[in-house]
Amino acid sequence: MDSIIVTGGGELDGQIPIAGAKNACLTLMPATLLSEEPLTLTNAPRLSDIKTMTELLSSLGAEVSSLQGGKVLAMSSHNLNNHTAHYDIVRKMRASNLVLGPMLARLGHAIVSLPGGCAIGARPMDLHIDALEALGAEIELKDGYLHAQAPGGLKGATHELRFASVGATENTVMAATLAKGTTVLKNAAREPEIVDLVRCLRKMGAQIDGEGTSTITIQGVDRLGGATHQVVTDRIELGTYMLAPAIAGGTVECLGGRIELVQAFCEKLDQCGISVEENEAGLKVSRKNGRIRAVDVVTEVFPGFPTDLQAQMMALLCTADGTSVLEEKIFENRFMHAPELVRMGAEIDVQGGLATVHGVDRLKGAPVMATDLRASVSLILAGLAAEGETIVSRVYHLDRGYEQVVRKFSGVGAKIERVQLK
Ligand code: UD1
Repeated sequence: MDSIIVTGGGELDGQIPIAGAKNACLTLMPATLLSEEPLTLTNAPRLSDIKTMTELLSSLGAEVSSLQGGKVLAMSSHNLNNHTAHYDIVRKMRASNLVLGPMLARLGHAIVSLPGGCAIGARPMDLHIDALEALGAEIELKDGYLHAQAPGGLKGATHELRFASVGATENTVMAATLAKGTTVLKNAAREPEIVDLVRCLRKMGAQIDGEGTSTITIQGVDRLGGATHQVVTDRIELGTYMLAPAIAGGTVECLGGRIELVQAFCEKLDQCGISVEENEAGLKVSRKNGRIRAVDVVTEVFPGFPTDLQAQMMALLCTADGTSVLEEKIFENRFMHAPELVRMGAEIDVQGGLATVHGVDRLKGAPVMATDLRASVSLILAGLAAEGETIVSRVYHLDRGYEQVVRKFSGVGAKIERVQLK
């Protein structure tokens, strides 16, 4: 099994290109199921989660070609011949549940296994089910599978999500594009990935308003056509690489980055004493001298501080001057990186959804274990500033969400390599 070895020390300098967003791509890909005509995505990230979604769509009869080394995905769903998303594929990745809405809308029925994904909490499907039922679907849980049908087709309705779930918003918006009449989705999620999905659906002929606000209105149409769409920049990859110079020192320019994607995160960096400048190419992040200041962080739905950057932010705060409190409000079990950071000399006290981080002068390299996607990269970030060698094992988690991670970090001067340890 592969591990990553990071040797700490030394400032970083240079540029890192930021890829297209994993989470946007994972909702744009199932949108192909809504149309008989081709959907082409450019700026796709090259990740194992994208391969899993490719496998899932192919199992349903869609054709997915990966072109230009994976940066372009050409898809066609003119010949769907299966409506069951099997557990074998779905268990690898929760985002597999995003085929439910499109299949139900296009075919009138779908069977989708309950998902797996990162071990960061219960992650149920109730919000997706309630919203699709409001559109007239009948959904039953049998043997670990959701059996959904809409014999007379879906019908537009007004529905308010109890929580602004990203996935439930995406599934509902996709389903509503082909429903009869108007759907008004209230308390919708406002994440940039949803805005990106709506822009693509609109190119396919969907009639949607209000993306990026809490109320999305969808006027159903009879059919959707094809489109070509460029995937939005990955704000989580962006935030992660912005933390590299913040932790190790130096200046790094994240190409393709824009403040509007990471506003709440940039405000925290500013409070810590890290400079972020926007220019035409992207975001330039510098840490000059001295220790960073401690800050408190609460994870929230967009536009709040993203839960997917909480682990990486904790890595930064381990060496801050003072005590920081991080509150995780989105997932109930998302501090698994804390005990690993403690192995590196961090002082962290976790009580339920609160982690109190007492800043120390310096971390020390240690063997640590990646527990989920974002936790794994937080350990690499911590290793950049630690004394000596940090060996991060179970890095297959990383391959789900970070393309060419070793090349991107080493390109700005980090001492990092991927090895096969027995
Ligand atoms: C998406 C992102 C993930 C990110 C998360 C929150 C993708 C592929 N993944 O996940 O990286 O961490 O948004 O920004 O885009 N919930 C329910 N019932 C439901 C659905 C969700 O209780 O039916 C709960 C979840 O357990 C969780 C919270 O709502 O506590 C947030 O989940 P949600 O916004 O749905 O996240 P995902 O779409 O799964």
